[in-house]
Amino acid sequence: MALLEIKGLKAGIEEGDILHGVDLEVNPGETHVLMGPNGAGKSTLGNVIMGNPAYKVTDGSIIFDGEDITKLTASDRAKKGLFMSFQNPLEVPGLSLESFLRNALREKTGKPVRIFQYKKQIEETCKLLDMDESYVERDMNVGFSGGEKKKAEIFQLLMLSPKLAILDETDSGLDVDAVRTVSKGVEIFSKNGGALIIITHSTRILEALRVDKTHVIVKGSIVASGGAEMVDEINNNGFESYVGA
Ligand SMILES: Nc1ncnc2c1ncn2[C@@H]1O[C@H](COP(=O)(O)OP(=O)(O)O)[C@@H](O)[C@H]1O
Ligand SMILES: [Mg+2]
Repeated sequence: MALLEIKGLKAGIEEGDILHGVDLEVNPGETHVLMGPNGAGKSTLGNVIMGNPAYKVTDGSIIFDGEDITKLTASDRAKKGLFMSFQNPLEVPGLSLESFLRNALREKTGKPVRIFQYKKQIEETCKLLDMDESYVERDMNVGFSGGEKKKAEIFQLLMLSPKLAILDETDSGLDVDAVRTVSKGVEIFSKNGGALIIITHSTRILEALRVDKTHVIVKGSIVASGGAEMVDEINNNGFESYVGA
């Protein structure tokens, strides 16, 4: 059974649809890459899957883990095992990453978090990501550099271990070291069986992953799907042959 099954999805804002009938199927543990020109609707698709209330679904459905989630709130979707890393992560003064994650884990499991285990998990994850433990106690993302914000998101990804993570240009604008850390975190997530939808313009984050499928989205529709080889093909030739289609 597919983990995520999107059928005939039309969605957008008050002024009209941005997505014009998207079909997409992601099986457990698969890695899908979503490519397309600027403004094609990639982030919108991610946001609609996550249940961002800024977007309205006008047709079609989103089935996740056997359940129709089309009408669920974003927080209920997160509890079911969906996760999205944002192009521009929010700064949250007054809330540390540590308390944020403790709440999220409690919500997800419905049980209080065992502090000793939790601290140990934090310690191990920080080590994996080459992250100073002090970040976890600071206000979430406040004063973090671009690279630190992305590391903090990958930290959340590993701590929460969702069933499906959507990464929206998590690698853009990062220096070589930060990309390496982010890639390493994503690789660990994938090896542990997590499914991924990766929105990216670069191949660096994909190098350590086994890409199952690539999709090209143009003007709110998926116009082509293929295997891993499509990523290189597009990086060499651009979107021209897809845009006209
Ligand atoms: N909240 C919004 N309000 C108004 N327009 C939006 C909103 N979100 C997306 N759009 C528009 O929808 C189109 C697709 O945007 P987006 O999904 O961000 O594209 P991509 O991520 O592929 O670059 C763009 O024309 C964008 O301006
Ligand atoms: Mg975008």
